[in-house]
Amino acid sequence: MLSATKGVVKKMLIRSVHARNERERSRLQQNNGIAPAAWGASVNAAGHLVIDGFDIAALATEFGTPLHVVSHARLLADYVRFESSFKKLYPKTAIGYSYKTNPLPGVIKVLHDAGALAEVISHFELWLALELGVSPERIIFNGPGKTRDAIELAVNRGISMINVDGLAEVDEIARAALAARRTQNVGVRVITSVGWSSQFGLSIAAGHAMEAFRRMRRHAQLLPVGLHFHLGTGIRDVSIYLQAVRETLEFAQAVRSELGVHITQLDLGGGFGVSTVRPFTEWDTRLTLNGRPPGPVDVQAAAQPEEYARGIVDLVLKYYPASANTSPIVIFEPGRAITSSAQCLVLRVLAIKEDRSGVSNVILDGGKNIAMPLGYEVHELLAVTGAADARDCSYNFYGPLCHPGDLHFRSKVFRKVKEGDLVAIMDAGAYFIPNQMNFSHPRPAVVMVDDGRATILRQRESFDDVVRLDQWERTHREASHESREHGTKDAHSRAESA
Ligand SMILES: Cc1ncc(COP(=O)(O)O)c(C=O)c1O
Repeated sequence: MLSATKGVVKKMLIRSVHARNERERSRLQQNNGIAPAAWGASVNAAGHLVIDGFDIAALATEFGTPLHVVSHARLLADYVRFESSFKKLYPKTAIGYSYKTNPLPGVIKVLHDAGALAEVISHFELWLALELGVSPERIIFNGPGKTRDAIELAVNRGISMINVDGLAEVDEIARAALAARRTQNVGVRVITSVGWSSQFGLSIAAGHAMEAFRRMRRHAQLLPVGLHFHLGTGIRDVSIYLQAVRETLEFAQAVRSELGVHITQLDLGGGFGVSTVRPFTEWDTRLTLNGRPPGPVDVQAAAQPEEYARGIVDLVLKYYPASANTSPIVIFEPGRAITSSAQCLVLRVLAIKEDRSGVSNVILDGGKNIAMPLGYEVHELLAVTGAADARDCSYNFYGPLCHPGDLHFRSKVFRKVKEGDLVAIMDAGAYFIPNQMNFSHPRPAVVMVDDGRATILRQRESFDDVVRLDQWERTHREASHESREHGTKDAHSRAESA
């Protein structure tokens, strides 16, 4: 009897695995990629990709490759869309741009000019915000590893909010506030039953978050007014937020009834995904290990800012009815949702080679060192030249790093390419720039296109820049100018010979 039941269960399991395999296979067959229009891009008569009226191939010739191209219009549009989705429903909304997602001063400046607060997580980012002229009451300081120097700078300059990430930070902030004879607004980063935890925040369920508030109340210099969470990144599902918001709002009530602390700032973090990128699933990893491309990105599957806004605001209003004048300011800290789709990374084809089994491998002039997220996210690769050609070939796309892990795209369906062609990795606006490293190459230039103008936001690193901080005995001083120019020249000469 028992073995008969086991047999039935086994069969059911096998059937469900087959059904799932079939579903995944049919999704693979639909993998036609995402059209340029998803990024507001088009293709001109020369067959070149065009963004904001700029021929991207012409930009690559002018500025060299690898090259980041930022669309000012898209950056601003994505900021405005995110902000207005919430503000329309809940006017006491503020957006704190997450510096870490894309710390280019030229990008940050656009967002501050549009009204964003600064959300910083390190001494450097705090310094950068102040250097950019952000007034201290528009800066929020988060992060699990705040140094004493950073805390002192934050307190001395009177920044608007420090969200504590651990109990020891409470005493450290109080000490700095006492020394500066200031009162400091503080909040607690909480861990809910969903989202990131490990090294972050203080658990509601374990009582650690409540303990932090108890500790804050022992220090007259601290004004506990905030609750904060941050769940992760690239989240495409509203329900995860709703669960975390619900638990946090309930905790706000508990803090009030137990300790008499009124929460006036609810900081609901970032992590909102975009429709044209998604994190790798276990399936993608298995597929790529078997020489196949990852599954497609379903652009319809990601929740849009308006859906997040509706769900989150409804919930906040349940706990703080619109009529109540105690309703908190609700802050969001988006990074990816604003910067991701506004930037692409343009690379040039250096070589095409067939391997032992006849697979075509393309070597590009930028590697994982400047495209780290391709190791854990599914991105689109668009043709910049020949962009209207039929996509009837399949390639593995590699970088130039002389390292087996330098694979960008596995078995990617693409137009036929030749040496000198250009391609663009889309959605390079989130976590590409902060994750860059050299690995034997200078880092790329960044240009912003805006209203007919292309402006350099960051110069291409020169060879000299790469070794600038090294202490060494230079034997050929006269070679220095040559090496300073070399990074750019190299890219230009490749472009010209193409
Ligand atoms: C505290 C905090 N806020 C905001 C963000 C921004 O996240 P995203 O770029 O996914 O919106 C992060 C990123 O990890 C973060 O750690």
